[in-house]
Amino acid sequence: MAEQGPDHKLSVKLLAWYDVHARVLPWRAVSPARMDPYKVWLSEIMLQQTTVAAVKDYFLKFVSLWPTVQDLAGAPREDVLKAWAGLGYYARARNLHACAQVVLAEFGGRFPDDVDKLLTLPGIGPYTAGAIAAIAFDRSFAAVDGNVERVISRLDAIETPLPQSKPLIKMRAQSLMPKRRAGDFVQALMDLGATTCTPKNPNCLICPWLAECAGQKQGIAATLPRKLPKQALPTRNGHGFVVENARGEILLRRRPDKGLLGGMTEVPGSAWESALPEMVPPLSAEWKKRPGVVAHSFTHFNLDVAVWVARVEVEALPDDSYRWVPKADAQSEALPTVMRKILAHGLKG
Ligand code: ADE
Repeated sequence: MAEQGPDHKLSVKLLAWYDVHARVLPWRAVSPARMDPYKVWLSEIMLQQTTVAAVKDYFLKFVSLWPTVQDLAGAPREDVLKAWAGLGYYARARNLHACAQVVLAEFGGRFPDDVDKLLTLPGIGPYTAGAIAAIAFDRSFAAVDGNVERVISRLDAIETPLPQSKPLIKMRAQSLMPKRRAGDFVQALMDLGATTCTPKNPNCLICPWLAECAGQKQGIAATLPRKLPKQALPTRNGHGFVVENARGEILLRRRPDKGLLGGMTEVPGSAWESALPEMVPPLSAEWKKRPGVVAHSFTHFNLDVAVWVARVEVEALPDDSYRWVPKADAQSEALPTVMRKILAHGLKG
């Protein structure tokens, strides 16, 4: 038999570890051969920028509402946005729905098994295309997420900071890919990063790669990966208006389809600017300001919202993007987390 190289030994060890320690996750089939590409795709879109713990319940809700890609493609977009509310990065929900429709219309309801075709689909970039190709179709593509970046940086004691080290990490991950069980290997790397090679206090003594880990040998594993200092985020400011009518209903409106939180429901408010915009409420009433602000972080900025409250008798709506919604039903609206916080602050006490 041909001599097997050191990378082969690494993959054998990691796959043996995975056979025992794989996390039980709702999108994982008992046998990799039974992986459902729809579930793999759905979970990968949800897991972009979001933790496994936050995703689990949303994933279960989606597959119970829409068990197949056909079901999801046929659902009204409103319902998809509603089911997504709270998970963040709402462009993902819009792309998810669009992608299901393209898979149905152009691929006969079956996800393509090749990376180039996957890359043409809405919401699927290089990471997700690689992850789907590997996990759903056992193609030999490395999918490098934050966990994998950490594992590989430590394995090779890579001291070049992220994001500069990304190409090197990607190449190394690809070179480690075994010929068989590509999907298991990709997920094993993710699980190793999530459970053992953790950001703080990695549990090196139980790691299947302990003997091969250069970071551990040099005593620097826990300090890797190095990262360039983050730029401080700018702060934007705005007003939010929580108004209740005599029937105990709250005024909500739909955001424009394009842009941040596009198509989602919101508490009426001002634009969010670096200087606090003028306070221009949607209805004339006796507005009172709540103490403090609601603070929320987006990827590119922090937001402080001043919350104003009022009660009205007259109920003329400013335009048809506005609706009155019973207070108890607001929770089942497509309300993003920031809007839930504004509403809660306005209704407090
Ligand atoms: N993070 C992203 N995709 C994942 C997967 N398939 N399993 C575990 N963690 C993940």
